[in-house]
Amino acid sequence: MRHLLALLAGCVLASAAMAARAQDKSGDEVAKYREMLADGNPADLVELRGEELWKAKRGPKNASLEQCDLGLGPGVVDGAYAQLPKYFPDSKKVMDLEARLVYCMTTLQGFTEAEVTKAWFTKPGKEADMEALVTFVGARSNGKPINVANRHPQEAAMAKMGEYIFYRRAGPQDFSCAICHANDNKRIRLQELGNLTTKEGAGTAMKSFPAYRVSQGNVWSMQRRLIDCMRQARWPEPKYLSDAVIALEVYLQGKANGTVMQTPGIKR
Ligand code: HEC
Repeated sequence: MRHLLALLAGCVLASAAMAARAQDKSGDEVAKYREMLADGNPADLVELRGEELWKAKRGPKNASLEQCDLGLGPGVVDGAYAQLPKYFPDSKKVMDLEARLVYCMTTLQGFTEAEVTKAWFTKPGKEADMEALVTFVGARSNGKPINVANRHPQEAAMAKMGEYIFYRRAGPQDFSCAICHANDNKRIRLQELGNLTTKEGAGTAMKSFPAYRVSQGNVWSMQRRLIDCMRQARWPEPKYLSDAVIALEVYLQGKANGTVMQTPGIKR
């Protein structure tokens, strides 16, 4: 019996060691894959399409987005992503890039909100315009530090709400964001989760969005990432562009403040 137990214990240890090796190996492989793709990130094409969409005259008003104010003045794209979300006096709201693009598409181009939010993420056979625009604007902040100071009272309130949501346990599993994302070296199966409560962890995540997801074959915006994580937490799925999602973004961008942008990232 003792022998059998020892044998079993040995097996358990051996398989744990093998699993650990497999995890490390998988990490290495993913790193290699990232390197390979970095020279020719498939998202580069998406970025080009985004630039075309930005410049194209579209909608009932036959206007381009070139006069869209993303927070640094009409038409300024360079560095815009790195200072979002922020408070906009014209809409009297804290907006992230996607909310702001919707605002510009409705005010400048004359689309309805329903029209521009209907197909906001890529589905088989239909690439989303929003993803392309976000990829284009995101990349034009590369090399710039994230600069979300949350000075306006509404920005500060959103950062606080984001922090509250991050730690709030809810849903049938009593999950919070923190359960998966507030520890170092935590993984689900082979995926590293990242500690989003530190500048380094939040920075690693936030600087690389929008990001190309190899497993999905398309670009994910931060809205999409967060809405999917809320689904993973088994919470009710929030509406696209809802304040809850933007609040989480304000909180996480604030944590990542100072981290230099490098998008589109490459993710599993
Ligand atoms: C059940 C676990 C789980 C919960 C709960 C969860 N997430 Fe995630 N999260 C993940 C996984 C898995 C990934 C993907 C990691 C990867 O692709 O490498 C991820 C990725 C992310 C990323 C991108 C990280 C990066 O470096 O690319 C962010 C940001 C994020 N989650 C935020 C949140 C927020 C905010 C919440 C709460 C609403 C939340 N998550 C809840 C599992 C979870």
